[in-house]
Amino acid sequence: MDPSQVKIPPMKDLTVDNITENVIRINSLCEDERMKYVLERLVSHLHDFARETRLSSKEWMAGLLFLTEVGKICSDVRQEFILLSDILGLSILVDSIDHPKPPNSTEGTVLGPFHTHDAAEMPHGEHMSHDPKGEPLLVVCTLKDTAGRPIPNVKIDIWETDSSGRYDVQYAEREGPDGRCIMRSDGDGVFWFRGITPVPYPIPHDGPVGKLLKLLRRHPFRPSHMHFMFQKEGFDHLITALYLRNDPYETSDAVFGVKDSLVVDIGRAGSEYAKKYNVPEDQALLTYDFVLVSEQETSELRERNSKLALDKLGRKVKIVNGLPVPDLD
Ligand SMILES: [Fe+2]
Repeated sequence: MDPSQVKIPPMKDLTVDNITENVIRINSLCEDERMKYVLERLVSHLHDFARETRLSSKEWMAGLLFLTEVGKICSDVRQEFILLSDILGLSILVDSIDHPKPPNSTEGTVLGPFHTHDAAEMPHGEHMSHDPKGEPLLVVCTLKDTAGRPIPNVKIDIWETDSSGRYDVQYAEREGPDGRCIMRSDGDGVFWFRGITPVPYPIPHDGPVGKLLKLLRRHPFRPSHMHFMFQKEGFDHLITALYLRNDPYETSDAVFGVKDSLVVDIGRAGSEYAKKYNVPEDQALLTYDFVLVSEQETSELRERNSKLALDKLGRKVKIVNGLPVPDLD
């Protein structure tokens, strides 16, 4: 871009007090309204952070080197940035903002760093975990919309650790996916499979995020859980998980993912389920009724929440596609 064509005042002699407005001014050449707004807020908060903490050069460099380490340890099977976002509570916050839920629907939770795209599609009833040491678990679920109608043919990703608390991708000798699968709900919105009873596990803590947790005197454990992701056109993408009640980490999840509505009891199959699903009567059983929200319902709720939140902050904004941008009219 030719600097002589840019209609902004010359930027020199910038100070602690006027650097922010000038950086925002030059960034405002951006033609994407939403990106301009996000950058404006980001710069504003970053600068305030430095001013309020009286950030030293040494501390800022330590922060940059920390982020460098976070990047360096990332690979195809390790996502340290997601982990960092998770332990700072940012992942669950963004999910709650972007995927608001009406009271009668299933709440979302963190995706975490262990979802992969290579899971095999399996028919109902299949074993999705092949860990012989795991406690066999029968999982029977239904999937409905907020009006109580069954939703057929939803693509469902399911993933869990083995009995030692490790995902398949955490093994160097991994030959293929295990402890994960893709299923589709049937005409009655039902899906069922055989897994193993989840166990608690520590998030990877041998890298920079682990070092940070240690400095903060925080443990790295997640309570026992099984992940689910639901996708179907017309419905808001739902990423969630079910957590086992009375897990030792139920109220201190390292990534803040537990919500009461997602906490479940593991029962026993009993004669009815044993007969219907061909499992022993004492087989561990997990049942859950998931409720998906339509895209339209979500978008209306997101827009309403955006307006309320920005009003509260006293910001003059307009909403475009459910997201706020500055209102300059
Ligand atoms: Fe997990």
